[in-house]
Amino acid sequence: MKSNLVIAIDGPAGAGKSTVAKMLADKLNNIYIDTGAMYRALTLKALDLKSNLDSSQELSKLAKNTEIKFKKVHGEDRILLDGKDVSKEIRSKEVTNNVSLVAKVPAVRRQLVKLQRKMAQNQGVVMDGRDIGTVVLPDADIKIFLTATVEERTQRRYDELKSKGKDVNFEDLKSEISRRDKLDRERKVAPLKMAEDAIELDSTILTIKEVIKRILKFCQEESY
Ligand code: DC
Repeated sequence: MKSNLVIAIDGPAGAGKSTVAKMLADKLNNIYIDTGAMYRALTLKALDLKSNLDSSQELSKLAKNTEIKFKKVHGEDRILLDGKDVSKEIRSKEVTNNVSLVAKVPAVRRQLVKLQRKMAQNQGVVMDGRDIGTVVLPDADIKIFLTATVEERTQRRYDELKSKGKDVNFEDLKSEISRRDKLDRERKVAPLKMAEDAIELDSTILTIKEVIKRILKFCQEESY
């Protein structure tokens, strides 16, 4: 199926957004934009430069002077920060634990939202994040709010890290995820919340395959 549909996928960390969005973009031949990766890339740069993460001014200036791009390499989406592939580095624990500080700065969000809208211009796109259906692409054809219980999201992350041979503690991971959820939901600018016209899908009870199947059905209905 080739589509020009604009699809927004929002939800808390670990609900399966990126897996769903990637698979969907592949099926629809659309581009995929991982907006969380953009906030992560900027956080990585701020940490590398030892910027003051409590200074909105400093972070805003940094956002204005940073180039973030996506590039497909051997079929995989890579993120380039000022020309350098940082796809792996942006997943570090340090970035994960500090990204909320960067993502809550209004001027940083303005800058990245502008870029996200530009990336989505004039083409079919699947974009995932926290504020896509509410702020970035309020006119999206389809808006999905993907959820899962905090226990389920922790279990998935736990299994993922264990399979990579990492030493992790379930309860520590759960409080980290809960902390990030709270920060995302309670921040003043563009908090994580479901758009009024979004469809909620709970991946605690649906498999990823079922989630995709449902969204594809919405896509077919929307294309008629
Ligand atoms: O989806 P993720 O875990 O890679 O996102 C990283 C952080 O960026 C997360 O704490 C919330 C923030 N984020 C955001 O504020 N707005 C978005 N559109 C996407 C992510």
